[in-house]
Amino acid sequence: MSISIVTKEEGISSRKVFEIECKDIILREFLLEDLDAIYALTLQPEITDFLPDWIAIKEQRREWLIKYELVENNEFIEAVPNVTNINTYILRLGIILKETNELIGWICSGLKDELPPPNREIGYAISKYYRGKGYTTQAAQGLTKYLFENTNIDVLNAIALTHNTPSNRVIQKCGFHLNGNIQIENHEYYYYKLSKSEWEKCL
Ligand SMILES: CC(C)(COP(=O)(O)OP(=O)(O)OC[C@H]1O[C@@H](n2cnc3c(N)ncnc32)[C@H](O)[C@@H]1OP(=O)(O)O)[C@@H](O)C(=O)NCCC(=O)NCCS
Repeated sequence: MSISIVTKEEGISSRKVFEIECKDIILREFLLEDLDAIYALTLQPEITDFLPDWIAIKEQRREWLIKYELVENNEFIEAVPNVTNINTYILRLGIILKETNELIGWICSGLKDELPPPNREIGYAISKYYRGKGYTTQAAQGLTKYLFENTNIDVLNAIALTHNTPSNRVIQKCGFHLNGNIQIENHEYYYYKLSKSEWEKCL
């Protein structure tokens, strides 16, 4: 599948849709037609209780998707392999269930301003209907592998509220090690790191 991209320099160009294949899921860059599915996920309190920044009315979400998320995805993909420390290089991928082709969650990588550099993090969410099946672990492992193998990123970070057991488990299952606790806006998080060299040792 290919998509058309509008760029300042070349007008409209097209390239292959960016995907990372995992066992049961595919990580695929957000597309405009994902609007309804992404919006539906942001109506689940089981997601937004942990990720309140994703709450928005549908028109707002459409605007964010068009103005920022699709544009920044393209900037990231075009910048590979040199994506380390630039704030607009944010990758946002849908978690697509292979069996049904449904978008059931998302996984993202951007810079986390509250963490000391190098502060590239990964973050994710999955529909309440598809939890506990290992899909997010597959997604996080797949994205980590892609980033370490294909970009100049040397360290990844992840944070999870101390009481968010599933998220802490996902991070741990991906080989991240605990780097301490961090307080952000009066909330207590576990703060994890994974370096490329540590990741390579676990292969
Ligand atoms: C965090 C989240 C993405 C996990 O998704 P998931 O697809 O269910 O995760 P996985 O199935 O890959 O792994 C979940 C792990 O947590 C474990 N787990 C889940 N609930 C648990 C609980 N209450 N106590 C102990 N372990 C628990 C599962 O058993 C599994 O571990 P295991 O494989 O060792 O058995 C999902 O819960 C979610 O979307 N939460 C809301 C958004 C969010 O918190 N995002 C992260 C922000 S930091």
